[in-house]
Amino acid sequence: MEKKANKRGHVLVIPYSTQGHINPMLQFSKRLSSKGLKATFATTVFISETMKPELLNSEIDFDTISDGCDKEGFFALGDIDDYLVRLQAVGSKTLTELIIKHKNSPHPIDCILYDAFLPWVLDVAQQFGIVGIAFFTQACAVDYIYYYVHNGLLSLPISSSMMPIVIPGLPLLDLRDMPSFIYVVGSYPSHFKLVLNQFSNIDKADFILVNTFYKLEQEVVDSMSKVMSQPLLTIGPTIPSMYLDKRLENDKDYDLNLFKLDSTSTCWLTSKPPCSVVYASFGSLANLTSDQMKELARGLKQTGFHFLWVVRSSELSKVPHGFIEEMGDKALIVSWIPQTEVLANEAIGCFFTHCGWNSTIEALCLGIPMVAMPQWTDQTTDAKLVEDVWKVGVRVNVREDGIVSGDEIERCIRQVMEGEEGIEMKRNAMKWKELAVEAVCEGGSSDKNIDELVSKILARCK
Ligand code: UDX
Repeated sequence: MEKKANKRGHVLVIPYSTQGHINPMLQFSKRLSSKGLKATFATTVFISETMKPELLNSEIDFDTISDGCDKEGFFALGDIDDYLVRLQAVGSKTLTELIIKHKNSPHPIDCILYDAFLPWVLDVAQQFGIVGIAFFTQACAVDYIYYYVHNGLLSLPISSSMMPIVIPGLPLLDLRDMPSFIYVVGSYPSHFKLVLNQFSNIDKADFILVNTFYKLEQEVVDSMSKVMSQPLLTIGPTIPSMYLDKRLENDKDYDLNLFKLDSTSTCWLTSKPPCSVVYASFGSLANLTSDQMKELARGLKQTGFHFLWVVRSSELSKVPHGFIEEMGDKALIVSWIPQTEVLANEAIGCFFTHCGWNSTIEALCLGIPMVAMPQWTDQTTDAKLVEDVWKVGVRVNVREDGIVSGDEIERCIRQVMEGEEGIEMKRNAMKWKELAVEAVCEGGSSDKNIDELVSKILARCK
């Protein structure tokens, strides 16, 4: 605790309230703390009550703002538009109160690091003359596509005459490689507005951070850096230090979970030979149809491989009746697991994933080849990069009725787990793993960027 009190440079961190956004920002807060800054991580009251950060023995302080839905969070309103309006109104007010509270303490806030999904945080920071740092949680490629759309450089809807889509720093893109909000015209308009709004006041941010590493997305990082008026720093990957540079003591997992953790998988994996198990998971948000779950179950079974399948409790009723019993020890179906620990287990041969950005970068950092079955948002673009740019996986083909068949699922898993192509994907994955470690180790590209950021923050401290 004494160590905490002596720190100079107080960073207030404001994440967006989903697992896939909290994980990277909490990890980055730990990194800033290890570099000597004092970090306070402020979630909404509802998220704090669900995740219970006060139980952690952490170098980081925790505090709260309110989204106006303290009891039920997003579920109180159920409508994303209504929720975002309330979050901004009540969030701005309670963030202001939090800043004032700290103003009168020995550790006033020197800068605010905010999820770029919440541009209003920057407006509040500026009212107090506090440094504002935007944190982009998704791939730089995806961010740059949204920048293009936001600035009218890519007009929508995309017609066949515009194909392939050319954006500097990115591979040629087909329609299905674009984020889902673009290729499924009119889908999720509120979410689409949310991701484009990341750029609504970006000119005013003091720094832009992207959760990627330079060698992974070099060309697009260079392209996007040229159009930004402030430094764009790659600071990732933000996965626990134990899997990368090992410099952060006790940094083994993500610490905060919105779902109840089941740790039985580690023991189950111990008895399995190296690279023999398929790990399947679709992150914290995806809802597959019952038909799709049926095909997924069929495909996994048909491969004959052991598989570990994360099915959140809200999805469990879609698993075919009797399937779990039928599979016996061949499969372990659990509701939420320590994912990085599982991916790091040598028994895992392939990650069957929805390609959320965290899952994608975790697989890259742990050298695991993937089968990509993107669902929505940024995942389609991540899947393109996985298959065609980093060459660490294969993407499933979707039938006209929107379903991926069990046979297709089996075919893709076999491609990764067996044969020459799979060996090549594994080799490439191991190469990205090494480069990820290099980026965060002392003197690596992300490490240098973080040092630059820290020294600039300290220089501005009063
Ligand atoms: C969401 C979006 O869907 C994603 O596309 C975007 O890039 C980030 O926000 P989510 O769908 O939850 O995230 O996927 P992902 O980005 O992969 O994040 C899930 C996180 O939960 C990962 O860090 C993963 O390690 C963790 N996880 C997942 C667990 O800890 N246990 C599990 O059982 C499953």
